[in-house]
Amino acid sequence: MNRVRIFDTTLRDGEQAAGVNLNLQEKLRIAQRLDQMGVDVIEAGFPAASDGDFQAVKAVGEAVSCTVAGLARTREQDILRAFEALKGAARPRIHVFIATSPIHMEYKLKMTPQEVLAEIRKGVRLAKSLAEDVEFSAEDASRSEIDFLKEAYMTAAEMGASTLNVPDTVGYAQPEEFGAFVKALIDSMGTSSLIWSVHCHDDLGLAAANSLAAVAAGARQVECTVNGIGERAGNASLEEIVMALKTRRDFFRLDTGVNTRHLYPMSRLVSRLTGLPVPPNKAVVGDNAFAHESGIHQHGMLSNRNTYEIMSPEDVGAPSSSLVLGKHSGSHAFRERVKEMGYHLSDQELKEAFKLFKDLCDRKKSVTNEDIEAILEDRVMST
Ligand code: KIV
Ligand code: ZN
Repeated sequence: MNRVRIFDTTLRDGEQAAGVNLNLQEKLRIAQRLDQMGVDVIEAGFPAASDGDFQAVKAVGEAVSCTVAGLARTREQDILRAFEALKGAARPRIHVFIATSPIHMEYKLKMTPQEVLAEIRKGVRLAKSLAEDVEFSAEDASRSEIDFLKEAYMTAAEMGASTLNVPDTVGYAQPEEFGAFVKALIDSMGTSSLIWSVHCHDDLGLAAANSLAAVAAGARQVECTVNGIGERAGNASLEEIVMALKTRRDFFRLDTGVNTRHLYPMSRLVSRLTGLPVPPNKAVVGDNAFAHESGIHQHGMLSNRNTYEIMSPEDVGAPSSSLVLGKHSGSHAFRERVKEMGYHLSDQELKEAFKLFKDLCDRKKSVTNEDIEAILEDRVMST
């Protein structure tokens, strides 16, 4: 299988980001755009968690054509609620989860490992009796004991789960270790039609790296959110995963179904509706992702963009690259900007203007076209 499924959980785990609360209309807008963008699965909410989540899963299921997932614990009432919310969906998926790590089983669930296995058996069996498409997640998988985890996934698969998700719930994993961990799980199940999935959090800034290590090890679904929003430090960022797979296709030899030109507009929409700003240095979609300031880089860019750009802004639907004029800029970029502004200067005028520009850069953080205009009109051309 040379395709990685993109499972977007912006509306469920993403909405769990502190301070975020999307209304139904906003969720629908995001879901419709995700569907157009080509994600494979939209996790639209946790129907048993609130009436708002129930309504969101229902409305999204009725509005889009891709698979729509509703999250549920192994409890009967959660699964029935998810099923109810997904009734109108073209492709419904019930996503059943329970924790499998010693710390979660002892302190949160207060269950023995055998009781957890019994819950998985009961929950996945019930979900499978209601929906063809069932996903099982072992919460806190990366801190679980591997032999117990294998048993947990085996049980879920026997009960009919067709996607087995390995969450790094607290962002604890390291890429090499996580890749090997996922591979050991895949190998334990032998060859089968199961789809292995990963769901990584970003507590150590490794969510994208861990997800990609798992893909290299055989995972074929990645759970992620737009702008990487989510609980605490967030989830793996959708745009980073998609562009890493596309830009380094030579390495992964895998495709996604995402039309990458939607990535930047999607990022802005989610930022606007959630009120969470996109950091300027955010990979792929940040304001500075295609901005070049140093003179050496600008000179390279003016000769050949590939010197300092591994993907083009057009590919992700972002505004064109910019050569930002600041104290690290060189005369090549300055000359280009002056030309773009419609000035034709002699070499001597240009030299003089460039010196004045550099002096100004030492006093002012960002130099605008208006500043350059003032230098040219008042100091260079008037002499
Ligand atoms: O982080 C996590 O473990 C989750 C699961 C419910 C998939 O969000
Ligand atoms: Zn999560």
